[in-house]
Amino acid sequence: MTDQPFLTDVKTLRERARMHIEQGALTEGYGANRDNVVKILNEALATEIVCTLRYKSHYFRAEGINASVAAQEFLEHADQEQQHADWLAERIVQLGGKPNFSPEGLLTRSHAEFVEGETLREMVVEDLVAERIAIDSYREIARYLGDQDPTSRRIIEEILAQEEEHADDMAGLLEGLGS
Ligand SMILES: [Fe+2]
Ligand SMILES: [Fe+2]
Repeated sequence: MTDQPFLTDVKTLRERARMHIEQGALTEGYGANRDNVVKILNEALATEIVCTLRYKSHYFRAEGINASVAAQEFLEHADQEQQHADWLAERIVQLGGKPNFSPEGLLTRSHAEFVEGETLREMVVEDLVAERIAIDSYREIARYLGDQDPTSRRIIEEILAQEEEHADDMAGLLEGLGS
């Protein structure tokens, strides 16, 4: 135990806040490695863009084969993946980074794959697999961020919870399709 109080004293806190004000939300007390966090968030952003595109493809193709229940699920998920991408891009900018929207290298940055599938069953299986990849990678990212960057962690955790719902939806669809 030291004599140091748990919290930074107010004077230091105020002085620190005045330094590097051009960095906006990124303060002296930021505990994480900013460059690493931006890189990780950009990988998550790529994952979300790839998932948006895959669900969009599945939505239009399922419409074509008259699978309206699945099509509606695909569309809803596509919209939510787009929302996730937006949250990540916004956070990257807050951290002073640049959200990478370049199509070049998108699939390499993404954790999830882009497999379109031929039949409805193949589409659902691929979506389920992609969700499971996202779930594992986001859980790992949340653990890495820990209390070093609680805001980024909270965003990742919120996305993670929705990916778990997506996986559950796809598993349900798959069951409904029979074998
Ligand atoms: Fe997502
Ligand atoms: Fe998802």
